[in-house]
Amino acid sequence: MVQIVEGVSRTFNEFLLLPNRTRRDCAPAAVDLRSPLLRHVAGEASPIELRTPFTSAIMQAVSSPELAIALARNGGLGFLHHNRSIEDQVLDVRAVKNFKAGFVVSDTNVRPTDTLGHLRDLMQRTGHSTAAVTHDGSHSGRLLGLVTSRDFHPQRHDPGALVSSRMVPIDKIPHAREDITLSQANARLWDERLDCLPVLDETGNLQHLVFRSDYTDNKRFPTQLVDDNKRLRVGAGVNTHDYRERIPALVNAGVDVLCFDSSDGFSDWQAEALTWTKKHYPEIGVGGGNVVDSDAFTFLAEAGADFVKVGVGGGSICITRDQKGIGRGQASAVLDVAAARDAYRDETGQYVPICSDGGLVHDYHMALALAMGADFVMMGRYFARFDQAPGAKLPTRDGFAKEYWGEGSNRARNWQRYGQGGSQLIFEEGVDGYVPYAGDLHEGLAVTIAKIKATMVSCGATTLPEFQSTARLVLVSEQSFQESHATVAARDTPTLD
Ligand code: IMP
Repeated sequence: MVQIVEGVSRTFNEFLLLPNRTRRDCAPAAVDLRSPLLRHVAGEASPIELRTPFTSAIMQAVSSPELAIALARNGGLGFLHHNRSIEDQVLDVRAVKNFKAGFVVSDTNVRPTDTLGHLRDLMQRTGHSTAAVTHDGSHSGRLLGLVTSRDFHPQRHDPGALVSSRMVPIDKIPHAREDITLSQANARLWDERLDCLPVLDETGNLQHLVFRSDYTDNKRFPTQLVDDNKRLRVGAGVNTHDYRERIPALVNAGVDVLCFDSSDGFSDWQAEALTWTKKHYPEIGVGGGNVVDSDAFTFLAEAGADFVKVGVGGGSICITRDQKGIGRGQASAVLDVAAARDAYRDETGQYVPICSDGGLVHDYHMALALAMGADFVMMGRYFARFDQAPGAKLPTRDGFAKEYWGEGSNRARNWQRYGQGGSQLIFEEGVDGYVPYAGDLHEGLAVTIAKIKATMVSCGATTLPEFQSTARLVLVSEQSFQESHATVAARDTPTLD
């Protein structure tokens, strides 16, 4: 006979936090958002600690290297998606690991034999006006010259002419070797009145470009998440199909953390894959999921998961509940799994962090997820809105939107994430749509962080463990939920959610 599990499946909108007493020393500047990422002995430090409790969803529409770089610079972690060849994912891992603040990997690259028309189209696509001319048109080929918007004008020069006719050749371009520091590069930019300084290896291959404006930019990020060699940290999604080949390549490229990505991680395949990973790569942290209850958490923790991701059916692009009738309200799932994590800690002495993944619509939902016991959150829709996300930015009647599509949509066709049988997606579990454009990640995330800190201050907490152990939640009625919103019509201000 079917079992009816006690309790209602609840979501974040059904809860509010009660303010606690705010002590004098409890001010936003004192709030520390550090949180453990990986399994560790209870009471000791995690091998990797997030400086801010945010990770980006393992999705095509979200986790580009640009987004992972921006997020790590703000103390969080990007998870590069696996729905593509191993080689392509490895390139993205390398792009993040090779990022040096102020040292840019050139994204606008041509061969000398390309036409100016091709160059014009490329510059329009990347939005950059400095192109590297390399022997093979790649970002790391032998540098033959540079072309900037000073050297050619789309209306003035024949689009059929060759790049070589307008480029400034390498023998006329001041350049630097790889061991140059950012402050030395900056001194040369000013002393020699340069806009851009290419950095080459000893064989003349292009490594980076340094621009004037990036130097000051680097001072903005005091909470960067970096490894022992001061390189930004990055995560990568993997699947239970090709992990034996994919994981060695990702580890070789320098990935910091892995995560098995499945819409339903409570499976023998995932347990096997976790066990294999811990056996062959014990030094690499690997997460599992997604789950929604205590049994599934314990199953993955026992299989070796270093963190467990929580959430089935709550994602903004998700139609899994409509299509398959499985899932659980995200608040109930997080509360249940957090209790299982604490029980596992008490029993084994091991703390296995949990991540609340999907369904975070408002900034205060993040605070609720953290208060309910999530060690960190993972978000798709939230990050897809920013400049650094890969979706195209499109004009709409009300401003701009960014494309955002689910991994289970026909556009992504990530069959490895959805156990539908065989190596294809038989039916969709996600939609393909748009989210309101929200500008630069650094600015948007700063506002979100300010709100979460303010919430914690009202709840009298300056650390996440304190927040979790002292927070008081209440259920809201339909009537009081309505009261949460302004009753005076707001003047026309853009809404970003
Ligand atoms: P969001 O932050 O609400 O947009 O949810 C993002 C999360 O939804 C991801 O991290 C995944 O766990 C999940 N997800 C991604 N693509 C799909 C899909 O196509 N269907 C169902 N869930 C998805």
